[in-house]
Amino acid sequence: MLASTILGAAVLYTLFVLLYRFVIAPVFVSPLSKIPAAHPTSSLSPAWILWTRWRGRENATVLAAHERLGPLVRLGPSEISVNCVNGGIRTVYTGGFEKGAWYSNAFSAYGGVHNMFSMEKRDVHSARKRMISNVYAKSSLQASPALRGISETILCRRMLPRIAAAPGGVLEAYELFSAVTLDVVTAYIFGLQQGSNFTDHPEVGAKWLHDYKSRQPYLFWIQEMPNVFQLFSKLGLGRWLIPDWVGRKSVAIEEQCLEWCDAAEAAILSGKAAESARYHPTVYGQLRSMLEKQDMVEKQNNQLSQEQRLDLASEMLDHLAAGFDTSGITLTYLAWELSRPHNVAIQSALRKELLSLRLAYSTTSSKSATFLPSSKELDDLPLLHAVVMETLRLHAAIPGGQPRVTPANTTLGPPGAEVHGNPAGIRFVSAAHSLHRNPEVFPEPGLWRPERWLDEEGGVDGGGEKARWFWAFGSGGRMCVGSNLAVYEMKGIVAAIWSEFETTIVDDAGMEHVDGYLAEPRGSSDGNFLCLRCGKI
Ligand code: HEM
Ligand SMILES: *[C@@H]1O[C@H](CO)[C@@H](O)[C@H](O)[C@H]1NC(C)=O
Ligand SMILES: *[C@@H]1O[C@H](CO)[C@@H](O)[C@H](O)[C@H]1NC(C)=O
Ligand SMILES: *[C@@H]1O[C@H](CO)[C@@H](O)[C@H](O)[C@H]1NC(C)=O
Repeated sequence: MLASTILGAAVLYTLFVLLYRFVIAPVFVSPLSKIPAAHPTSSLSPAWILWTRWRGRENATVLAAHERLGPLVRLGPSEISVNCVNGGIRTVYTGGFEKGAWYSNAFSAYGGVHNMFSMEKRDVHSARKRMISNVYAKSSLQASPALRGISETILCRRMLPRIAAAPGGVLEAYELFSAVTLDVVTAYIFGLQQGSNFTDHPEVGAKWLHDYKSRQPYLFWIQEMPNVFQLFSKLGLGRWLIPDWVGRKSVAIEEQCLEWCDAAEAAILSGKAAESARYHPTVYGQLRSMLEKQDMVEKQNNQLSQEQRLDLASEMLDHLAAGFDTSGITLTYLAWELSRPHNVAIQSALRKELLSLRLAYSTTSSKSATFLPSSKELDDLPLLHAVVMETLRLHAAIPGGQPRVTPANTTLGPPGAEVHGNPAGIRFVSAAHSLHRNPEVFPEPGLWRPERWLDEEGGVDGGGEKARWFWAFGSGGRMCVGSNLAVYEMKGIVAAIWSEFETTIVDDAGMEHVDGYLAEPRGSSDGNFLCLRCGKI
């Protein structure tokens, strides 16, 4: 009798503790409980947001929740979506919240070697960023003979001839732009001579792109449900969630990057890198010499140790991965918008603006001197700038959430509606998709309207609220390090193409965005993303 009473009390007590821990505390006691829940179950369980993510409905669902409930929305028991600038991205991103396992699990390489993108801790990350960021500064790009040679070779001698030679002038835009951006980025990282040459070899480039992209959906398990994936792996069932070929493709990509690194290393050791801009591995050389200065590159017959080799390779793989697909996606949507029938006037206005530069791109001769516009000359073209900005806004290549983890006792929310005292370890997330659709800052946000970045006289008007809400490159300490290179490269590519060609759409059935962190076009059933016809002017 007594025993069963004690047992009963113990069961009741345990039930109460569980009820408190999993229901009462998260729903009523936690400071997060003051934040409106996106779904009735959000404060109890992450199941709803995980399911939304898995089905590819996150962008629209989270935006709708903000429109309904305001700038702070609770997505799960310990996840908050933030969609405002003051008290929002200022606090989380400029305030230096750290990255979490979401990044470090997914973006390290070579069996866990970390890089700028994947590093969690602020001090480790900023030490690395300080070593490299100057090669991406605007002034370095402007003064770089290597980059000038890269633009001339890749834009004028590879890209324009490939377009001119396309049968009937028709080509697949996403494959073209990915090849061009990978060539530019690898040439800047490893040296033009050592980098990729995919623009000239479309089949090799297309295969690489498809291998690279095919792995992306499986990141879900590593980023969102790492514990479930670990459990499956321990039971030997990991391949139920992530098939073995995914790992094999990743290894092949890592090996390709090591080859590029070794070629850059050889160019340095042979002295060619110092003699000729064509061999100069700008980013690789920079990190290598910084590591050397710190005495971290020990000279053993001039050989890097395997550890140093992988350290460099992981960082370079990170830059080429972060750099090529983002710019390729942006250029594909830019080409699409410019070529749509209702935007034909914008395309001809842009061509008119470009002709004011009197560009002399050469599509036929491989030896004639080519006049390339400088980045200053490109930046002085307001419509070109507006077209690039508007594409980055409406078709952000990274529209998805960029999660960060709270330190303790953060105050969040716009002035007057702050929420104080959030516990540590909460995931905060903002997304360009939602920030870029605030109708007070970007009226009729669903429309592609480059004019919104121009003033009445046709000059650039990008300041004020627009600049504060523009988030295509993120913000704060973990903001995109390559944004200047990206903009310079994209403007150069657009100027080269639309000075020489006019474009129309052949087939754009594949242009719906994938819903995810990265948002490339989904592709159509016949394997095309965007078929463009490029007519020589
Ligand atoms: C249109 C082109 C680009 C877009 C839209 C873009 C966007 C972004 C965004 C949103 C982030 C922050 C991501 C996060 O915290 O989750 C980021 C970081 C980064 N990007 Fe870019 N990017 C572009 C081009 C490039 C290029 C050309 C490079 C270099 C060659 C580059 C290298 C990086 C690196 C290394 C980081 C990590 C920075 C850090 O953690 O400190 N990106 N980029
Ligand atoms: C790129 O490929 C073309 C065509 O095969 C070739 O002529 C050129 O030398 C290659 N360039 C580099 C840097 O490998
Ligand atoms: C957060 O604030 C509470 C109450 O003010 C305090 O007791 C606690 O120590 C703080 N935590 C941290 C990590 O600062
Ligand atoms: C958002 O996701 C939906 C799928 O739910 C997709 O149709 C749409 O193109 C995506 N939009 C953007 C801008 O990513």
